[in-house]
Formats: sequence, structure tokens, C-alpha cells
Amino acid sequence: MIILIGGEKGGSGKSCLAQNLAVYLATECQLSVMLVDCDPQRTTSNWIQARNDNPSLKKINCVQMFGKIRDDLISLGNHYEAVVIDCGGQDTVALRASLSVADFALLPLRPKRRDLQTVPHVDDLLNNGMMFNPNLDAAFVLTQCPSLPNQANRILEAKEVCQTWGHRVLDAFTYQRNIYDDSEESGSSVMEFEPKGKAAHELRQIFNQLLKQENQRAIEVTYAQSAAQLEREQYVLSRSAPTTYGH
Ligand SMILES: Nc1ncnc2c1ncn2[C@@H]1O[C@H](COP(=O)(O)OP(=O)(O)O)[C@@H](O)[C@H]1O
Ligand SMILES: [Mg+2]
Repeated sequence: MIILIGGEKGGSGKSCLAQNLAVYLATECQLSVMLVDCDPQRTTSNWIQARNDNPSLKKINCVQMFGKIRDDLISLGNHYEAVVIDCGGQDTVALRASLSVADFALLPLRPKRRDLQTVPHVDDLLNNGMMFNPNLDAAFVLTQCPSLPNQANRILEAKEVCQTWGHRVLDAFTYQRNIYDDSEESGSSVMEFEPKGKAAHELRQIFNQLLKQENQRAIEVTYAQSAAQLEREQYVLSRSAPTTYGH
């Protein structure tokens, strides 16, 4: 499966979600994962470098890709059970290419005016992507939400803005919490920093809702099976291939 984390706003938490999703899929769902960094700012590539230098954390593969990456993504999708793309915060060729092949797109937004103003253009991008890729399953998610009860309306109103454009908005969202920033140090994730904490819980809910699965075990069964099938297909292919050695 190919999952794109994208949008048109810097700072909304795209890289943070891409990194935590990659860790969730690799460690808790036991899938083979490739992270793709399409952002010239290299936030995710730098994070992965720190992560893979840290012997206490499970290593995750990461490549940087720019431009016309459609065929490369399809190829990665055939080799990894999950490909997670951090697309950066601009309307780029790579973002459009990713939308044309992704199974899922997660679009983070803060419940703030300037973030919500990007929804019409993101809607346009999604509609374009779906012309090539009608199965694309896209969802907005609200991030860095205020926890004060008198600001709960902001969250509801932001959800309504996305819904008026006819898009799925996840029920789960992230609150503004320091752990998101603190956990990035030395390539770690929220899930590894405080596995039983509130932030890890809200992230698991977001990822399960995005993939429409009940829990991490359901994700593992659904997506690891397809890899087993792939292995079987490769096995059958290799057995039926003509032998070229000898004589
Ligand atoms: N829910 C959250 N609460 C507090 N800080 C957050 C949250 N989500 C992300 N952040 C922080 O916000 C900053 C920007 O996030 P980042 O993922 O780099 O944004 P983007 O990739 O969309 O530009 C980072 O320092 C990150 O740790
Ligand atoms: Mg980023």
C-alpha cells in the first residue's frame, strides 16, 4: 500500500505524521516499510539518519525522490508492504505523481484560518489525482488542536469546513503537546518515547481510522497477507521460468 502525507501548509505536522506512521507500521504492525522524502527541506531524511544511527531503534529505509516519481513509487509499492511519502508543503510534480498512485492520502491541517484557506486548492489537487486514481482514499486530519474546553468549537468548525468540500475528516485528531517535538530527538517517535501516553494513543487512532482498520493487528493481517501472496507469486514465477543454465 502507498500512503501519502501531504498538503499545502508548512508546519501542519506532515513530516511528524509520516515519521510516526512509518514507525507504527514497521514496529507495531510488523510491515516492511519504505519512507519516501519528497521535501527539499529534508526534515524526514535528517530524522531517519539520526534514527538509523541509534542502535536502540528499529531501522527504517528512506529514500529522497523528486519530480516524476510515479513509476518509482509503483515499483516501491511492489517491494514493500507499506510506502509512506512525506510530500512537503507545496504543490509539486512529486505531490501530483504521488496522488496518482497512492491508496491513501492523509492531509493534516491545524484548526486555524490560514490552514483552512488551503482546503479549496487541496480539493482541486485531490480531484485531479482521482481522475487518474479513482480508488484514492483521502482524509483530512486536524492537528495541534487546543485542549482548552472553551476552544472546542474551533475543532468542530474546522471539521465542518473540510466536510463542506465533500471530504472525509477523521474523528481522531492530535492535541497540541510537547511530546511531538521532544520525541523527534535522535530519530525517535511518539510511540517509542511514551508508548502508553495520550499522544501515542491519538496517533494510533488516526492511523487506524485512515486505513479503516480496527487495530494494528488488523493492519498487519490485511497488508502482510498481500506480501505473502506476492512472495508466492514470485515463487510460482521462478519455478515456471525456463532453466537457462547447463549445456
Ligand atoms: N500535535 C502536535 N503538538 C505539538 N507540536 C506538534 C504537533 N504535531 C507536530 N508538531 C510539531 O510541529 C512542528 C512542525 O511539524 P512538521 O511535521 O515538521 O510540519 P510539516 O512537515 O507539515 O511542515 C514540529 O516541531 C513538530 O514536532
Ligand atoms: Mg515537513
